[in-house]
Amino acid sequence: MKIPILHGPRDLRIEDQPLDTSSLAPDEIWIETQISALKIGTDRGNYEGAEDVPGAPTYPRWVGDSNLGIVRGIGNAVTRVQVGDVVVTRQPHQSEYITKQSASMVKVPKGVDYEDAVYAHLYALSAHCYRKGFFQPGENVAVVGVGVLGLGAIALGPLFGGRVVALANSPVRLEMAASMGAHAGMLSSDPDLKDKLNDFTDGNGIDLVILTANPWPAFRTALDIVRPHGRVAIVALTGRGEAPLDFNPLSMELFYSKGISLHAVSGPAGYLFPDTGSTPVDMQNRFASDRAAAHVLSLMADGKLEPKRLVTHRFHYTDMVQAYEMAYQREKSMLGVIFDWRD
Ligand SMILES: NC(=O)c1ccc[n+]([C@@H]2O[C@H](COP(=O)([O-])OP(=O)(O)OC[C@H]3O[C@@H](n4cnc5c(N)ncnc54)[C@H](OP(=O)(O)O)[C@@H]3O)[C@@H](O)[C@H]2O)c1
Repeated sequence: MKIPILHGPRDLRIEDQPLDTSSLAPDEIWIETQISALKIGTDRGNYEGAEDVPGAPTYPRWVGDSNLGIVRGIGNAVTRVQVGDVVVTRQPHQSEYITKQSASMVKVPKGVDYEDAVYAHLYALSAHCYRKGFFQPGENVAVVGVGVLGLGAIALGPLFGGRVVALANSPVRLEMAASMGAHAGMLSSDPDLKDKLNDFTDGNGIDLVILTANPWPAFRTALDIVRPHGRVAIVALTGRGEAPLDFNPLSMELFYSKGISLHAVSGPAGYLFPDTGSTPVDMQNRFASDRAAAHVLSLMADGKLEPKRLVTHRFHYTDMVQAYEMAYQREKSMLGVIFDWRD
């Protein structure tokens, strides 16, 4: 099988590794990748040599975690999927692999386009920003940072009943935000930003900010624009691979005096009605990542969510390095990137 391995900063090589699919264990599933998608934020950091994400591998390491494939074989104890099923997993970019029945995996409903479904887990993470931020329908939401996760949050906000404004650092990304349903878009560097947000919210202010951009100035903008006692949901890996901090991130005027809450978008969200009776334990988390991804896929099946509209580049997997180099150059016209593994 073919797999891209990152050996160090800007050193990505497509390698050949053995894979024996002739004798699957009872709980094993053999999947052949059709397409995979680039997660720009985290993978650019890995590619350019930013500090490692806790819990993630160091070099040499796999890359990617948005993988759509077809089940080609199953062990005799597998019941979750059948041969021929299309599934999305968080497995790395690779041509084929063997995984366990217990692993993260979601079946793609019939009729959902591959280039929509491959984003299921990334958009589930965008949805998780709302749950971790204790979002309420009708609230005003500002998304700071319009990349893959930001655009997912922008597309989902109106579906969840929010009024969404996109804050970007480039007009190209504001156009993308508008095409995905943002009610308004502004440059975060706009000198009249707070007045324009006040108009957008009829003076009610921004109830929830979703921060997806790593640079510290974006963090400052997020705390600056949220209303007193509002919430900031942070999915960004703030400061990773960015210029060092030059201000007090929890200053009295930005944080304490405003009585705001900061929420890290990792781990389960607070939930009032967990099904404590059900087993296995992870099924008690009503919005565990596979369940959240299944909900996102259902919105795609209803025609309400189309990430494929943001696909700007398609590469055969052998040309994958080109895409990582474009991400390294922070190419603004590049957003959705699909790698094709079908020979
Ligand atoms: N928590 C998790 O499990 C998890 C999972 C996936 C990703 N992440 C993190 O979430 C973040 C978002 O991921 P992504 O793929 O959407 O990343 P992305 O493509 O880097 O999106 C962030 C966007 O924000 C822009 N930006 C930078 N400073 C800004 C500012 N002051 N105002 C407005 N926009 C600004 C960036 O532009 P430039 O490119 O010019 O900086 C970039 O276009 C990344 O940090 C990623 O590592 C977290």
